[in-house]
Amino acid sequence: MENTVVIGAQWGDEGKAKITDLLSENADLIVRFQGGCNAGHTVVYDDKTYKFHLVPSGILYKNKTCFLGNGVVIHPETFEKEINELKLQEVNLSGLRISPLAVLTMPYHIDIDGLSENSLKNSKIGTTKKGIGPTYSDKIARIALKVQDLFDEETLAQRLDSILPLKNSVLKNVYNSKTYEKKEILGFCERYKNILKPYVCFEWQNLVREFKNKKILFEGAQGVMLDVDWGTYPYVTSSNAVSGYAACGSGFSVSQIKDVIGVYKAYVTRVGEGPFVTELFDKDGETIQQIGCEFGTTTGRKRRTGWFDAVCGKYTALVGGVTKIALTKLDVFDNFEKIKIAVAYKDKRNGKIYTDFPTNTFIHQYLEPVYEVCDGWMTKTSDIKNYSDLPANAKKYISRIETLLEVPVSIVSVGADRNQTIFV
Ligand code: GDP
Ligand code: IMO
Ligand code: MG
Repeated sequence: MENTVVIGAQWGDEGKAKITDLLSENADLIVRFQGGCNAGHTVVYDDKTYKFHLVPSGILYKNKTCFLGNGVVIHPETFEKEINELKLQEVNLSGLRISPLAVLTMPYHIDIDGLSENSLKNSKIGTTKKGIGPTYSDKIARIALKVQDLFDEETLAQRLDSILPLKNSVLKNVYNSKTYEKKEILGFCERYKNILKPYVCFEWQNLVREFKNKKILFEGAQGVMLDVDWGTYPYVTSSNAVSGYAACGSGFSVSQIKDVIGVYKAYVTRVGEGPFVTELFDKDGETIQQIGCEFGTTTGRKRRTGWFDAVCGKYTALVGGVTKIALTKLDVFDNFEKIKIAVAYKDKRNGKIYTDFPTNTFIHQYLEPVYEVCDGWMTKTSDIKNYSDLPANAKKYISRIETLLEVPVSIVSVGADRNQTIFV
């Protein structure tokens, strides 16, 4: 295996965790480089289901190091809940390391996420309310606390003297909400320190040196369409989900990355608000939602569903630098007579055709998909292990996606289990 980044190439929940788990077998180090506990990653193996939000999905293998890089944001209480659940499932966490440079989500970030969403009224983002946007905002505004600050009492107290009045002013004057005493926040910090202490890797520069010539797998969260620069802004998350951020958010270098696996579902889903040109509001959409069990892992919300969108797909492959496609959930279409792929968008106002993704997402309300119709295969695929055994129409569907996206498909997933995978 070459050093590889796994990214979501739609609006998240493409099955990244399943692909990361699979590839982890051949990796020495698995790195999360962005996002926080807004992510919900599911791995199914040996009839057991494991749920991850922050911990890299590679943790299920023995003798792997799993690293949460500086690009990640951490809410220690949510992290504690996650590791406690994994411990109950007897997952060995001894290989888990956290960068001291990762930024902390504080209680006021979670408050502000909820308050800001409520104040947006008709233009809500539909966030996961995990404090992600306010945490990354503070990082960029240079008023965030990092994991390392928890271990330096003097700095922490000084930083809070400048940060807390600002945060309290927003809470009180903008939202008329509860404020925090310094003592209270110091109490949270003491607790956070104890939660994170066993995992913090102050020697992270040694870690980067140690794994320089070993196999590294970078695990993305969210998806390119949710990327703060490249996604359907402002209906996005607050981090960069493209492969380019793998280096920035980890301490490894771009020159060390060879492959980028873009994970695409055989259809498209989205949780939260925002444009979605191929969204279905009919029986097909409902069937995909039900057969695909499309409920959010983090919030339990029903995922919106739609046909595969090759306009978005080509765009995310381009800006995500995708070198190989992992196509997941093909089995969800096993009983579909006809399957559609959007190959272009048409502007209802003037008939203008778009084959490249229009980045002004405010016009998306006027766009309708131009579909190509593919014949379904009407055969169970979930037990198939070899590409050659796939039904002819399934192969045609895969091949059409490869042609439209101009990237080869290297993995086809036909079920949630680790074993329900076909390497092409
Ligand atoms: P992630 O956020 O990209 O890691 O994806 P999620 O874990 O949030 O959502 C993907 C869901 O689909 C999970 O419940 C997986 O167990 C499941 N899944 C992954 N691949 C397949 C597949 O090929 N077929 C089916 N039926 N389910 C899959
Ligand atoms: P994984 O890693 C799907 C969505 C939210 C909302 C928007 C902003 O499991 O694919 P945020 O809380 O990040 O400020 O919310 O982004 N979102 C996701 N949707 N999968 C995810 O992660 C997501 N993480 C955030 O629903 O629309
Ligand atoms: Mg998910």
